[in-house]
Amino acid sequence: MPSIQEKFTQLFGHAPSLMVQSPGRINLIGEHTDYNHGFVLPAAIDKYVQIAFEHRTDGMIHMHAIDLHETVTVPAHPLQPHTITWVNYIIGVVAQVQDYLTYAVHNKETLYKLNEGFDICIQGDIPIGAGLSSSAAVESAVIFALNEWYALGLSKMQMALMAQKAEHEFAGVKCGIMDMFASIHGEANQVMLLDCQDLSFKYYSLPLKDYCIVLFDTSIKHALASSEYNTRRLECEQGLKILQETYPAIQTFRDVSVRQVEECLFIHKEASNKIYQRCKYVVEEMERVQLAVKDLLVGDMKAFGQKMFATHRGLSELYEVSCPELDMLVNAVKDNEYVVGARMMGGGFGGCTINIIKSKEVENIIAQVTEKYHHATHKKLHTYQVKIEQGTHII
Ligand code: GLA
Repeated sequence: MPSIQEKFTQLFGHAPSLMVQSPGRINLIGEHTDYNHGFVLPAAIDKYVQIAFEHRTDGMIHMHAIDLHETVTVPAHPLQPHTITWVNYIIGVVAQVQDYLTYAVHNKETLYKLNEGFDICIQGDIPIGAGLSSSAAVESAVIFALNEWYALGLSKMQMALMAQKAEHEFAGVKCGIMDMFASIHGEANQVMLLDCQDLSFKYYSLPLKDYCIVLFDTSIKHALASSEYNTRRLECEQGLKILQETYPAIQTFRDVSVRQVEECLFIHKEASNKIYQRCKYVVEEMERVQLAVKDLLVGDMKAFGQKMFATHRGLSELYEVSCPELDMLVNAVKDNEYVVGARMMGGGFGGCTINIIKSKEVENIIAQVTEKYHHATHKKLHTYQVKIEQGTHII
């Protein structure tokens, strides 16, 4: 198979000037907490999107997705959301940079250059729709390349925020900051505790010792994933407003205790009491992340793993973003003495579970779970043993 560089040269008749690689991410714990001002504990992994880039001067953006065999060309200005999803991950970021150059720094020369257009090729090995943030990896690679090429001087956090805004405005998903943050800031063998309220973060080594991280991919992506995601966000906002009526000092979920959730939101024992359930999960999960980090500091992976199982229960029963296939995969390992922790990961309604498994038992466990999964769903289970790697960089 030709390299991305060769493919770019074949397509555009000249070699690229810049190549950038951006990873997918895992999240150890802290799910659906980023847009609720909580904590997350993600890491970048050894699965990547690569882009090859070259400036052009005719005011056009030529984009080619190697894995999808698709080419799309649009004028560099003005940019509108496109009907093809992957195109939005590129042009959504360009639109953010155009806004930044127009309104934030009034840099006309650079804007002029950006609007001259460019050629770009993308390819990658992050499974699409598996909840490993392939879209954030594309957005992160593009913002990183534009920052480099047009000497924008953006910090990593500014890049992550602009990539997030691109996802909101062009892809229509009101995602939090975690995915882009993790893709851009990742470091080898380090997880990152990000405070999504003030955006401060800290690196921690993961005391995996004789354990490793394995992802079980349901190969399912339910169509309702993005609409349900936006609904969860709204339900949490509604819950916060109700809490603020009784406790005006509350600004975000960080100021909320489980007791206050019980007092203000628990109306009666009805399964339909959704807002109560959502908020209870969020507040409990925030606390769980803090405790899980303490487990990491003392090297207690067993205690850490128990919290992952508890997170899964919360996501499944209270936040209701799991699905039968994800639940099945977690149940399949729950009582296995060699699996210290497992849970669904990411937005939910499909995608992967993340499992922490004793290294010497990985093959056995993969074989057992693959068999069970096939038996129950008639689907093939894809599994990935992942390493924690460096974030977005030039190659
Ligand atoms: C998706 C979003 C993230 C985060 C997770 C859930 O991956 O893109 O911002 O909200 O879901 O934790």
